[in-house]
Amino acid sequence: MRKVIRLTVVVCLFVVSINAFSQSNLKSTSGVKLEKKISENLFGIFFEDISYAADGGLYAELLQNRSFEYTSNDKNGWNPLTAWEYVNKGYGYGTVSVETALPVSSNNRHYIELNVEEVGKEGVGLINFGYDGIAVRVGEKYDFSCFIRQISDKSIPIRVILQNKKGKLLGEATFNTNSTKWEKYSTVITATQDYDSARFVILAKSTCKFALDVVSLFPHKTFKERANGMRADLATIIADLHPKFMRFPGGCLVHGDGLANMYNWKNTIGPIEERVEQRNIWNYHQTAGLGYFEYFQFCEDIGAQPLPILPAAVSCQNSGGTWVVGGTGQRALPLSEMNSYIQDINDLIEYANGAATTTWGAKRVAAGHAASFNLRYVGIGNEDKMTPEFKERFELIYSAIKKSHPEITVVGTAGPAPSGEDFEKGWEVAKKLSVPVIDEHYYEKPTWFLSNTHRYDQYDRNHSQVYIGEYASQGNTLFNAVSEAVYMTSIERNGDIVKMASYAPLLARIGNTSWNPDLIYFNNVQVVPSVNYYVQQLFGRNQGDVYYNSVLFGTDAQDSTLGLSCVKDSKTGDLILKIANAGTTAKTVTANLKKLGIAKTAVAQKQLLVGQPNEQNTLLEPKKVIPTSTDQTIGNSFTYESPAFSLTVFRIKANEIKK
Ligand code: AHR
Repeated sequence: MRKVIRLTVVVCLFVVSINAFSQSNLKSTSGVKLEKKISENLFGIFFEDISYAADGGLYAELLQNRSFEYTSNDKNGWNPLTAWEYVNKGYGYGTVSVETALPVSSNNRHYIELNVEEVGKEGVGLINFGYDGIAVRVGEKYDFSCFIRQISDKSIPIRVILQNKKGKLLGEATFNTNSTKWEKYSTVITATQDYDSARFVILAKSTCKFALDVVSLFPHKTFKERANGMRADLATIIADLHPKFMRFPGGCLVHGDGLANMYNWKNTIGPIEERVEQRNIWNYHQTAGLGYFEYFQFCEDIGAQPLPILPAAVSCQNSGGTWVVGGTGQRALPLSEMNSYIQDINDLIEYANGAATTTWGAKRVAAGHAASFNLRYVGIGNEDKMTPEFKERFELIYSAIKKSHPEITVVGTAGPAPSGEDFEKGWEVAKKLSVPVIDEHYYEKPTWFLSNTHRYDQYDRNHSQVYIGEYASQGNTLFNAVSEAVYMTSIERNGDIVKMASYAPLLARIGNTSWNPDLIYFNNVQVVPSVNYYVQQLFGRNQGDVYYNSVLFGTDAQDSTLGLSCVKDSKTGDLILKIANAGTTAKTVTANLKKLGIAKTAVAQKQLLVGQPNEQNTLLEPKKVIPTSTDQTIGNSFTYESPAFSLTVFRIKANEIKK
């Protein structure tokens, strides 16, 4: 009987204290754990080329199917001339054919031959419709380039123009060809008007025959004005999340639809005309224009640690659509190819970090980046089925990287769900091999997030750390977003075992969404961050590396709709309080800041995201729910009425503490 009573008391104490703090490293003299070190890279982003996130999205190329590599294998009905049309402005006459005999690169097989028999008044050529048109802005410069091989002897006058839907000129440039070999030509078109859905036209202005490939048009103002760079508005919105890391290039895209479709990083570097384009598992096409160099560069530009995910030498278990008769399921590389596969991974690490004197480091330097990209993490596998084939290959890869690059932290994988067979087996592999970090994924209802805030409190601190590589609560309403916020306070509380976390997916082009919900929606002219985005942003911009227990208290320690956390950012010395309320009523929260050295009063920046539970941001109302920011004087012990369906962040600057 005595034993039973003691146990009850212990359990109650545990429940009361766990909401604020369950595992800590430091103890006060009274024995109560006060603070602990947590991951300094906790919140980052997951980028996958899904829903046109790369081509037609972040990658700023304005022309679609620039290398004539689309096929019906990418998507039913597509072919090398998709997004293009023959034009004979002014009654000229000619023929267009798709050829493969003498390509600009053997990696890039298809090109166009244009035979102009009658030039007419305005020339003969091709029109490109971009991705649902091309948005241009008056006075802005657009960098054009293409490869041409003259087949007829004489130099060919070429005119490139931007025009509106009715054919009205919006900007132009001209140049002359000068070679019967493949030659790159570049020029600049300045837009004379704003227009949201322009077309691009390339016209030959003489009777001639020539081959044409890799026809490209970029806004000159890409993010940080990088050549072959990122769309500035999208990149800026992403950078505004202040992500500590960026996972790329997926997702399922990584392990691919069959072995031949696995993402091969070596196919994505070097001059764009030499990159290997391929089908996108999400039923479109990857130009590989946004390749590994650009990913690394972008990570550096937004201050995020790169986290590339590589296939574990097996393809996606849904390859070929296993739910459809004829699907192939997971396929594994033959063991005889594993040495060379592992060498490719070592080469990637050398490409990112190696000196200019190394084979792959030299390629990075030649691409314009002399310094190392400071790669510290490599993920192996993406929510793979835990078959014997997977396990064998994962172990080979993991052991090899551990040996050749002990400085790299390998991230393993634990299936597509928060529990179940692959989850259990993934963790078994991680424990057996002592994999330092393991990637968990979950797409669940908001109620799941609210009832699982204690998930990591129980995790054994003596095994692998966790990367929550993909999570989302299946919706873009404020209720979804705030439920995620409640959960994220529990991630912070467990930031000693959870090393990283990233919402997924990041981007979706409106009209081309392969997956819902997403964090940021966009079309050619508008970017619509979801309410979930603002939750990610409030957490991303207010990250800390020390977690404090017993600072914030609700009235009911078992209230699963209230999430509380208090962290310090050691770099700035700022203290940050987060209060997430996914409940239907306001909640009273008490803050006790005395022990943290706050003088009687301090001025805090208060950021508040609040609204009705079903509200969301849309194209028509892109700012329906966004955070507001005000300064508020707080005492070192204060109560706060946290509104229903809200996230509040108080940031107390270092100079306000102990003043
Ligand atoms: O985030 C979308 C997809 O969800 C990812 O590609 C995959 O890893 C997961 O199943």
